Amino acid sequence: RSAVRMAMERTYIMIKPDGVQRGLVGEIIKRFEQRGYKLGALKLYQANEDLLRKHYGDLQEKPFFPGLLKYMTSGPVTCMVWEGENVVRMGRQMLGETNPQASAPGTIRGDFSIVVGRNICHGSDSVASAEKEIKLWFDDNEVLAWKDHSHAWVY
Ligand code: TYD
Repeated sequence: RSAVRMAMERTYIMIKPDGVQRGLVGEIIKRFEQRGYKLGALKLYQANEDLLRKHYGDLQEKPFFPGLLKYMTSGPVTCMVWEGENVVRMGRQMLGETNPQASAPGTIRGDFSIVVGRNICHGSDSVASAEKEIKLWFDDNEVLAWKDHSHAWVY
């Protein structure tokens, strides 16, 4: 199959401060890498409230929002772009449900977390929000694209 004819997508995956402090960065990268997805960008980053308000814009009125801001600024996050076929939906599936207790074993949240307020990781919920989030968290020159021929080992 030709890579150009497939639904090649990019998604924004972020390891939250608890995931970084608990030493899960390598484990999470490993899962995406082993599945066959390609890393397009990667950095450790201290998020501020302004950026998080943009990232979580739709949640600002929720009662948990102040706690979410405190959690997400409590230490560095790991920002990543992953690319590949259907990676937005598959990434969400690999993360599990928002609530770790509803997440199947084998998912990242289902294997490594217990409560929604410490759920380890973020993944874009649509192609449109992925593109928005990649722009928000990365400068253009920090994001690279793989050449088509490098996909032949997976597709
Ligand atoms: P949301 O966008 O609904 O979920 P997801 O991260 O799976 O896309 O919520 C964003 C984050 O807000 C979620 O990962 C953890 C936090 N959160 C809470 O702390 N309490 C809650 O009741 C909910 C729904 C979310």
